[in-house]
Amino acid sequence: MNQKFEAIVEGIITDKFATSEDFFDEKLIASLRKNLIGRKANDQMHQAGIGRQASSQQNLQVRGDVISWLEGDTTDLAERAFFDAIEAFYRYLNHTCYTGINGSEFHYALYEPGSFYKRHLDRFKHDSGRQISVITYLNDDWVDGDGGELVLYLDSGEKTIRLKPGRAVFFKADEIEHEVKVAHRGRMSIAGWLLRL
Ligand code: OGA
Ligand code: MN
Repeated sequence: MNQKFEAIVEGIITDKFATSEDFFDEKLIASLRKNLIGRKANDQMHQAGIGRQASSQQNLQVRGDVISWLEGDTTDLAERAFFDAIEAFYRYLNHTCYTGINGSEFHYALYEPGSFYKRHLDRFKHDSGRQISVITYLNDDWVDGDGGELVLYLDSGEKTIRLKPGRAVFFKADEIEHEVKVAHRGRMSIAGWLLRL
């Protein structure tokens, strides 16, 4: 039994969310952070969408992050290690919970100062593929005044999750509404989904 994975699975089953402090090791987080900074410098980050019809202007009132997708067949060693860890986890999840996850999609996300993402659900009406949302924080230091908290709206009330370097958050994509509070510093993460296609 994998203790780290088991704790996350238990959280997802009982609370519909889980956090993990050591899902990825520090060196991997540092490499992924470098990648994000590189993509930003190379102008590869673009405004994120919220749906097919929404205009850019409408988007900006809902979310202000810029994103860049990871390629599933990436040859970048850090991204490969990232996907390997994700795949090992969802195999474990499938094995213990019959979740039938058979893919994933992830993007880097940067919230520049003043950016936020209003309360929302990650699973679109016409897109039933997203099962579990997974967010990994890449900043190497973050204090309370920096904002950018993730707030989960649970049946039991609001749960505020502070950013902590390397912290990973898992929650049920179709059930948990959530929001990102205004960030006062550049807020770096990888956000994505475990899929059943
Ligand atoms: C998202 C999202 C949360 C976070 O990208 O859909 O809700 O903490 N991100 O970055
Ligand atoms: Mn979301």
